[in-house]
Amino acid sequence: MTEIYDQPILLKRASSNDSFILGHTQEQKGSEFQSGARAELTPSPLTLALSSIRGRFMAQAMIFMVPDTRAHRFIAARSPMLKAAILRAMPQKPQPILATVAVGFSPVTILIAHERPDVRVIEIDTPEVIQKRKTRLRHAPDIIIPDNIETYKADLSTIALTDVLGDTRPDVMDITGGYFTHAELTQVVRYLADVMSDEGACVCYLPWFDGIEQIKGAARFFKSQIGDYPGMVGHVDTAKRIFTDAGYQTVEVLFPSQFGAELGLETPIMDIEILVIAYKQQK
Ligand SMILES: C[S@@+](CC[C@H](N)C(=O)[O-])C[C@H]1O[C@@H](n2cnc3c(N)ncnc32)[C@H](O)[C@@H]1O
Repeated sequence: MTEIYDQPILLKRASSNDSFILGHTQEQKGSEFQSGARAELTPSPLTLALSSIRGRFMAQAMIFMVPDTRAHRFIAARSPMLKAAILRAMPQKPQPILATVAVGFSPVTILIAHERPDVRVIEIDTPEVIQKRKTRLRHAPDIIIPDNIETYKADLSTIALTDVLGDTRPDVMDITGGYFTHAELTQVVRYLADVMSDEGACVCYLPWFDGIEQIKGAARFFKSQIGDYPGMVGHVDTAKRIFTDAGYQTVEVLFPSQFGAELGLETPIMDIEILVIAYKQQK
């Protein structure tokens, strides 16, 4: 791994042109942990294929350090909830477009592409992560990658997202918000709003203060393992303001404890992160 992934730069304006470059969020360790946790808590051919031994080992350590099953259920519910939120945010139009920035080893893009062949699904991550993702999937003969997925290798600290997407204007973009400060996230999601279609929406997980407090010991351990999460929020209004300040007209905040139950997932679920769906237009 090159050391550039440890740089804390999150957002900067390119000097040569006026396009935003998104910068680095955190290195791939976070993705390894998340895919390991999914494989441990919701094993399936897809989650297992996308995970690594190291990620599963980190996840086993977390399960040991946080024996509260409500926290485990949150991790198990994280991808199904993200998938449901993306589908909820998707405008009703022919061939809508989803773009997942920093897809890591997430199964959600593949699950959506299977379930909704009408959706054009775009996944983007660094060349290193996309290479690993492709290799892992290639080694899993049972997994079929649908034709409606496009995968792009792009380091978004050196290439503008608009250069990757060309003329494409996604209808939904999802991003993990916890690695940005609130001010940075406001700029990032404002930039995403400019890139999206007019009926577009941004879907974003944000760490929730009360939930992080409940898993404090382990949270400290994971900070040292996978980096800090300055984007933590403690009030719904704070989460909403990040997106309204960025120009979104309607902002929904979903709590896993309720949203997971609505989806029929196993409950009770701890609210370790909250899900935001921010729509460019008034709903
Ligand atoms: C928290 S992980 C994403 C996790 C993923 N959404 C999941 O649920 O498994 C962060 C991802 O951001 C990617 N990333 C960080 N900086 C990047 C950059 N400059 N360009 C593209 N991807 C980047 C990392 O490679 C990593 O896969």
